[in-house]
Amino acid sequence: MKVNQNFSRLEQSYLFIRINQMVAAYQEKHPDVQLLRMGIGDVTQPLAPAVVEAIHRAAEDMGRAETFHGYGPEQGYPFLREAVAAYYREKGVELSLEEIFISDGAKNDLGNLLDIFSQDNVVAVPNPVYPAYVDTNVMDGRPIRYLEGAMENQFLPGPPDFHADLIYLCSPNNPTGAAYDRQQLAAWVDYALEHDSLLLYDAAYEAFLEGSDLPTSIFQIPGAERCAIEICSLSKSAGFTGVRCGYTVIPKALEREGTSLNALWLRRQSTKHNGVSYLVQRAAQAVFTPEGRAQTRQILDIYRGNARLMADTLRELGIAFWGGVYSPYLWLRCPGFDDSWAYFSYLLENAHIIGTPGAGFGSAGEGFFRLSAFNTPEATRQAMEQLRRLHSNI
Ligand code: MLT
Repeated sequence: MKVNQNFSRLEQSYLFIRINQMVAAYQEKHPDVQLLRMGIGDVTQPLAPAVVEAIHRAAEDMGRAETFHGYGPEQGYPFLREAVAAYYREKGVELSLEEIFISDGAKNDLGNLLDIFSQDNVVAVPNPVYPAYVDTNVMDGRPIRYLEGAMENQFLPGPPDFHADLIYLCSPNNPTGAAYDRQQLAAWVDYALEHDSLLLYDAAYEAFLEGSDLPTSIFQIPGAERCAIEICSLSKSAGFTGVRCGYTVIPKALEREGTSLNALWLRRQSTKHNGVSYLVQRAAQAVFTPEGRAQTRQILDIYRGNARLMADTLRELGIAFWGGVYSPYLWLRCPGFDDSWAYFSYLLENAHIIGTPGAGFGSAGEGFFRLSAFNTPEATRQAMEQLRRLHSNI
């Protein structure tokens, strides 16, 4: 028996696990210190009441013979796919139900989708980048090329002058909080159509774009239905990090080498996946009701308020940053540090704030740092107070 040697090319542990271990070690030595968590983008607000009610009702259904549900349809229940299709219709995107696949989260689908692509494909990922895109391809042994993000391009790399088969884009971006406009995305669609490439478009943070005129779906760009897959999540928009539900859109028009990618994914899913539970899909359906939409919007407003306070504090301290407007993430230049892991420890030990070192998102992240607005307003206020105190001493 041989193991997959590609794993030896990975960092010893996944970014957020490494951070958890460092934090746990610190907390063990300092059990009385109250840490302020602005690291991994995990939500802090509870589920919206409409979602909780839907879970209760679904549990009742499961307890009665007449309404009990066993294995569900492999792509997800039509009631949820219809709700997702209606959401896209509001964005001006028409989808058939066969183009929508309900998932147990964006991260899972982003990794699982690789099953339908050859291992010879050249993968392009932005740098800095959400580490799961890189790690999942390293596990499969695909060659990876980087699209450099920097202050000069506002961390929004455009199409490269080399050929790439699979290209990951995330907008609003994790980790930088930057978001592509229509013209920039159109350039990516043109590139993908010209190169016969595929865009893997991660729209997990699209809900934060409400109120802007920036595209919330790659399918708002003409031609994208022939070169893109969109992966979305209810984790951040509706607090589903612990519930697990998302959706992936694979247009029927998307073909490569004469093969429908939609058909390949359906084949893959019906073999390796038994769907998302009925309870979770009912919970997700509630997110798209007028009541659920209003309630989740209120929750997002809390995170937006936190991001505003964080942005004001950084501005006041003269710390350069990006994001934080249509995004829950703020990407800052480490004040007084070139090494972002050293700044991580400095912040943890002296301000009791947990953030994420930019280097954890790739070499171009070195010297930068990510703070997340997913917290309570009280904890955010306290963290900013502690940050202010720390940096007025630098
Ligand atoms: C992050 O903090 O980058 C995200 O919360 C991680 C994730 O969504 O898996």
